[in-house]
Amino acid sequence: MNLLAIETSCDETSVAVLTAPRQLRANLVFTQIAKHRPYGGVVPEIASRCHVEELPGLLRQAVAESGLGWGDLDAVAVTHGPGLASALLVGLSAAQALALRLAVPLLAVNHLEGHLYSLFLDEAAPAFNDALPFLALIVSGGHTQLVRVEAPGVYRLLGQTLDDAAGEALDKGAKLLGLGYPGGPVIERAAQGGDPQSVKFPRGQPTGCAGGLEPALCFSYSGLKTALLYHLKAQPAAAQSPELAHTAASYQEAVFEALIERSARALERERVKFFGCCGGVSINKRLRAKLAELAAQVGVPLLLAPPKFCTDNAAMIAAAAARQLPLAPGAEKLPRLDAHPELPFGEA
Ligand code: KG4
Ligand code: ZN
Repeated sequence: MNLLAIETSCDETSVAVLTAPRQLRANLVFTQIAKHRPYGGVVPEIASRCHVEELPGLLRQAVAESGLGWGDLDAVAVTHGPGLASALLVGLSAAQALALRLAVPLLAVNHLEGHLYSLFLDEAAPAFNDALPFLALIVSGGHTQLVRVEAPGVYRLLGQTLDDAAGEALDKGAKLLGLGYPGGPVIERAAQGGDPQSVKFPRGQPTGCAGGLEPALCFSYSGLKTALLYHLKAQPAAAQSPELAHTAASYQEAVFEALIERSARALERERVKFFGCCGGVSINKRLRAKLAELAAQVGVPLLLAPPKFCTDNAAMIAAAAARQLPLAPGAEKLPRLDAHPELPFGEA
């Protein structure tokens, strides 16, 4: 199984080559952060243009690094959603063209399923099937979800955010604090040495939730950034040193305590073998410490991905695609893929 995967759903252009479940022969990630930084967030037009510019070179380099020839590839996989439409389309077009030219099957992957599979790329992790069933907390710039993973492809959505994602809350908070972009890492740095209990920010507990989801397992982060805005209006010094460390630590803590509290509730109800946390926000050391504490309390082993697999990458897309390979239609039946910016994940 020689699988080439492409990820272009947001602001990382990435190509990976996977030859067996953990045989990653290449995983190249071009991060566009520097291009979006002046705007304080991802600009879709810049993202898609940058994917167009970077993808051909990354494809050649990934195949060269893998030691394989183009003719050795058995399938091409690509993220088809959720994400930015114009960014997804670049990866989709490249993947369709490659699959057609190489006459190999084409596989479409849900970006969030990719994040789930990122938990199993590391040598030290159990195999996906040995970890079942497990509870996954997906925390990224676009998503915040609690998912019960029953089997490959069988994902039960237990809770999600009603508005902003955890990463988005950090990104917006950093902007208000004048710390730059992306917010997660800059808030983590600013929070060093700060007292996380110094400002009491809201923990965003929804009282109602659409789609049959239980409010007790859902999140709401939009009130948090408003609370920060009002706090800064009342006390402008809170954004200046030495108060800044306390403000950043308290803000970050509010984001993470909501994650921990809802996860604790889910772990109380769901009998699972593992508790995994994935997505860009799961890099954060404070969050990792809190997750480890919770996992120890409930006696469920914690699964985390190495940092390089937490933020967007094509290795995780390849890993998720591998499960589809035995069922994939042959190259003579290439699917016509479309971008699905709002592609749902998990059944409620
Ligand atoms: O998974 P990801 O790369 O992209 C999406 O699918 O959205 O996640 C990006 C998010 C951003 O919101 C970023 O601020 C956050 O991950 N992030 C972090 C850290 N590094 C990146 N959040 C907290 N602490 C970090 N060190
Ligand atoms: Zn992501």
